[in-house]
Amino acid sequence: MTSPAPKERIPIASDHAGFEMKQKLEEVLKKMGYDVQDLGTNSEASTDYPDYAHPLAHEISEGDAKRGILLCGTGLGMSYVANRYPHVRAAVVWAPEIAELARKHNDANVLVLPARFLSEPEAEKILKTFLDTPFEGGRHERRVEKIERKEDIPDVSDGEIE
Ligand code: RB5
Repeated sequence: MTSPAPKERIPIASDHAGFEMKQKLEEVLKKMGYDVQDLGTNSEASTDYPDYAHPLAHEISEGDAKRGILLCGTGLGMSYVANRYPHVRAAVVWAPEIAELARKHNDANVLVLPARFLSEPEAEKILKTFLDTPFEGGRHERRVEKIERKEDIPDVSDGEIE
């Protein structure tokens, strides 16, 4: 008898602006069969988004978790923090089509949701699309690799920019 595949652990975190939506998405993730790791916040009390983005981004950067979910009001603050970490590609996503392209073309590994600008059904659709869409590879592989290799980038300036 073969044992079932281990559940993928998905860390999720928000500030106060994303707290309510985070709670809802955790239920969705559990129903999808994921092992959800809630990194806070734990209430709607005002808090600072970097306190939650740093621990999650560290996990992804170190390869301890493959994918993660962040939420704040606009998605911007969380993405600024997460994208400072090597190997983290955090995508602010406001539509399922963007989620699909963020996975297919950019191999995004952190989904960042602007909680104040999405309904719950919209967020759920985006989440499912993000998790279910594979990276396309091919020409996108080269481009994604170049994100962290600026020393290999050709000079495309016309020589006039100092
Ligand atoms: C909190 O009011 C808000 O600034 C925060 O959730 C986020 O939008 C920051 O980028």
